[in-house]
Amino acid sequence: MADKQADLEVGGETYHFPTLEGTVGPDVIDIRKLYGSTGRFTYDPGYKSTASCESALTYIDGDEGVLLHRGYPIGQLAEHSSFMEVSYLLLNGELPSKEELDDFTQTITYHTMIHDQMRQFYQGFRRDAHPMAIMCGVVGALSAFYHDSTDISDPEQRKIASHRLLAKMPTIAAMAYKYSVGQPFLYPDNSLSYTGNFLRMTFGVPAEEYEVVPAVEKAMDRIFILHADHEQNASTSTVRLAGSSGANPFACISAGIACLWGPAHGGANEAALNMLREIGTPDRIPHYIERAKDKNDPFRLMGFGHRVYKNYDPRATVMQKTVREVFDALKVSDPVFETALQLEEMALKDDYFVEKKLFPNVDFYSGVILSAIGFPTTMFTALFALARTVGWVAQWNEMISDPDQVIGRPRQLYTGPTERDYVPIDQR
Ligand code: ACO
Repeated sequence: MADKQADLEVGGETYHFPTLEGTVGPDVIDIRKLYGSTGRFTYDPGYKSTASCESALTYIDGDEGVLLHRGYPIGQLAEHSSFMEVSYLLLNGELPSKEELDDFTQTITYHTMIHDQMRQFYQGFRRDAHPMAIMCGVVGALSAFYHDSTDISDPEQRKIASHRLLAKMPTIAAMAYKYSVGQPFLYPDNSLSYTGNFLRMTFGVPAEEYEVVPAVEKAMDRIFILHADHEQNASTSTVRLAGSSGANPFACISAGIACLWGPAHGGANEAALNMLREIGTPDRIPHYIERAKDKNDPFRLMGFGHRVYKNYDPRATVMQKTVREVFDALKVSDPVFETALQLEEMALKDDYFVEKKLFPNVDFYSGVILSAIGFPTTMFTALFALARTVGWVAQWNEMISDPDQVIGRPRQLYTGPTERDYVPIDQR
């Protein structure tokens, strides 16, 4: 990184700070010594202008609608790659050779079973528990079963934990679904692909042979690719912050799942489909667009807008195409897709959305596909968590491997009372 300089004038004095250059994207001003030299903090709630770390995993240019994983455009990965290959890429930095991919896939396949005792955790939840509630609990509990991969200072243990998380996530998510519908859990089938195995564990029943529909398997795999990583979003930053204290990887990923659950983040795919169903028919769209624009109405167009993308989310483009492929393969249709297409068209002609640069994000169309495949809306965010696990794990690993890594500890602008004396209760 070449050093440049940024000058900051505080109280009549000028301080110099180095500017660091990434391989692509905006330079960053290195203010690590700001407090030490000026006695000031920066104020940036929501981190709108703050780079919290250095990372070589994913690059986004929100203005141009670009998303690269280790340099490879998401469109190319979605078209030509597989989720296993993208996972290898994220974890290891380069695309695998055929042999490396086979080895990696074999390792992941042979870690898909979970400890049998974990099955009992599920019985402790109500049948109507949200799958994300179950995922937070069960994934966090993995650390109680896999002690041999919780020493984060050992790269080999970190690798094993990463593989375990990636491998067991489909099993855990499928079991959450099975539990909610009162069907028996299915064990993984090692003859199937990562995605095919997940579909079978979710939709198969012991009494019948489950046949994986290749087009659905492909679409699902692509959805996993589209969600695999997205640089320093809220859940990834949560994983990094949790991990910065030295917490074990299973606990950190559980923290990421909790953050992802929120409707402003991963919960948006569930919220987007619920919204589209509520809108129902295209003639009701203008009413909802007006509501979204009304400052006094908390309603927002779910699946629209993004903190980073101020252009079309490249993942939404692929997602929209995939809807048609799934509909064709399953010979189904859903009027909600027509509503989504028309809502997008009307919103993108409306000054409010144009001026604020609000475009469909990845969640706008994903719900339509997942619903066509047969997932209930409550599973949507669980699927997102499944796919994002590899990104979280890769980011966590990158952070722990960094020799300059320290505990994350933001500062604050204090606005509470200044020091005052305690008043006994009878004098208040
Ligand atoms: N509908 C209506 N208005 C919106 C929307 C929306 N979906 N999104 C943003 N706006 C408006 C805001 O009201 C705000 O207007 P103002 O400047 O007049 O106050 C302006 O656009 C900027 O919005 P912010 O909330 O400040 O933007 P921010 O970058 O903080 O938020 C977010 C991004 C949270 C994604 C937001 O666009 C949103 O809530 N979208 C709906 C939820 C959603 O789809 N989330 C999924 C994100 S993608 C993901 O996590 C995978």
